[in-house]
Amino acid sequence: MSADEWKQAAAEHAILHVQPGMKIGLGTGSTAAKFVDLLGQKVRAGLDIVCVPTSDATRAQAAALGIRLTTLEDDPLLDLTVDGADELDSELRLIKGGGGALLREKIVAVASSRVIIIADHTKRVETLGAFPLPVEVVPFGRGSTERLIADMASDCGCDGSIVLRRTPDGSPFVTDNGNYIMDCHFSMIEDPEALDDALKLVPGVVDCGLFLGIADIGIIAGPMGVEILTSDDDAFEPED
Ligand code: 5RP
Repeated sequence: MSADEWKQAAAEHAILHVQPGMKIGLGTGSTAAKFVDLLGQKVRAGLDIVCVPTSDATRAQAAALGIRLTTLEDDPLLDLTVDGADELDSELRLIKGGGGALLREKIVAVASSRVIIIADHTKRVETLGAFPLPVEVVPFGRGSTERLIADMASDCGCDGSIVLRRTPDGSPFVTDNGNYIMDCHFSMIEDPEALDDALKLVPGVVDCGLFLGIADIGIIAGPMGVEILTSDDDAFEPED
């Protein structure tokens, strides 16, 4: 099977958790897009749900599939969010933001009663950090913010290059919120909680791609089948 087929297999497991009447957060990226496609098929078959997308790209995909959309203003509490990840460890700690949507993804996930992460097995790691940690920063004062990020991270044992994300034409990548992304090449993040706390103290940092204590279930598909990770307080069984 290819990575694409594993992503599809994970999305097919996640769809079992969808119930009529649910309010659902829709993630961003190629894996989440497979879940959105499956949801679109269910909606066409008559499933009544309403969704909050985590990016303009997902909004466009969902709208094209005829999925009814809402906002966190009208529906501040969601039943379920299904999203992908760039890395996840055995404690369901994640790095997200490879697609640049980390802030909306985190806001939507935290607004949800249950968060399911779907991924192919290449995303599963022992220690977070091989994937560069995305940090969303406001454009103003970027140089100073970068220096402070480096200092704070170094105090947490994380050193490495910090690179402004750019689009293929060389201009800075701008998030859906009008911010920049700094990709932090730390290689290993031994203490994600300490780093997360430290980065939150930098005034120009809006948020970072560490998702700690947010995911309830991980559905990871690979050559050995589907692996399910659950947080301590979540049972995997889909609801009837
Ligand atoms: C976007 C994300 C994505 O969930 C993450 O990048 C994984 O994407 P993909 O499923 O395409 O590998 O966090 O901001």
